[in-house]
Amino acid sequence: MFKTIEWKNNSVVMIDQRLLPTEEIYRTLLPTEEIYRTYKDFLDVAEAIREMVVRGAPAIGVAAAMGVALGALQINAKERKGFAKEFEKVCKIMASTRPTAVNLFWAIERMKRVLKQNPKSGADELKQLLVQEAKNIHKQDIEINKRMGRHGSKLIKNKATILTHCNAGALATAGYGTALGVIRAAVEDGKKIKVFADETRPFLQGSRLTAWELMKDGIDTTLITDNMAGYMMKKGLIDVVIVGADRIAANGDTANKIGTYSVAVLAKEHKIPFYVAAPISTIDLKIKNGEKIPIEERDIREVTHIKDIPVAPGGIKVRNPAFDVTPNKFITAIITEKGVSRKSFEKSLKRLYSLTWPSP
Ligand code: MRU
Repeated sequence: MFKTIEWKNNSVVMIDQRLLPTEEIYRTLLPTEEIYRTYKDFLDVAEAIREMVVRGAPAIGVAAAMGVALGALQINAKERKGFAKEFEKVCKIMASTRPTAVNLFWAIERMKRVLKQNPKSGADELKQLLVQEAKNIHKQDIEINKRMGRHGSKLIKNKATILTHCNAGALATAGYGTALGVIRAAVEDGKKIKVFADETRPFLQGSRLTAWELMKDGIDTTLITDNMAGYMMKKGLIDVVIVGADRIAANGDTANKIGTYSVAVLAKEHKIPFYVAAPISTIDLKIKNGEKIPIEERDIREVTHIKDIPVAPGGIKVRNPAFDVTPNKFITAIITEKGVSRKSFEKSLKRLYSLTWPSP
């Protein structure tokens, strides 16, 4: 299994997801091509998050934690006060990278807590504690996904065909995945599962990443363009939809990759269960409903070009919201590592949130 992100010799190593899958194919022809990047400067990690070298809510959280740890190692101040001041600046830069996935802010808060919980520690000790915390966040994310997978697998019948949108897999997390984690767990439970992967315009996470990682696992996967989902549902070819999430409001409204909302509406029309799989760290109880979730607008070049090839006339007006919000009425259940949340989401999400596993 490939590694998405790793802390190695005081640097952050990440697979460059912008290059998948084509560069991996070329690499076998050109052995010098490298798809892993090593970061020694926290500013470069911030840029890597912005530019989507790493993407997917939990993976962004892990990258932010490791970026903050790297930033801490770069601080020269020897006494605590000076260190804390510089550390705040590092956290602020990391928090400015992408606005929608709440895991980014959750991870930064966890890193900040290390300082609060160790009021007597000096700069050198804090640096070690922060590196350790980033490693913990990474390790726990894999455990969380496996737990989520176990809960989710129970909802999946043998021989089910599952539609997924975007990439909520090992590449979007520290490993195993959320929505794809549920699929992996169902396969591990001996169920015969087929997957339909939405291409996911404009960044093509479905065709480039989901198709790539499911094929690596030998899971029966069919790629469709986003506008084919309704046709497949009408034909009776989809039994279940499972997607990930970037932020879940207190009432269960869920922000996920643009196009998720359309899939959810289609699923309801065709009476197909629509599941969201996400860790507790993706739930933002401070946000009452989906209206309040900030939606990132990205460079219009993602829409007007595929790689460097123009697919639209120059000068055309373009919008590129990277996420949309699926209202809770379209969601059958939310699968977390602490159990499955059903309506009313407000009550059950709050209950799951307050359970103490894993202790953060
Ligand atoms: O813009 P991206 O690629 O970071 O968006 C990713 C998604 O929307 C995923 O579905 C979501 O983060 C869940 S990942 C486990």
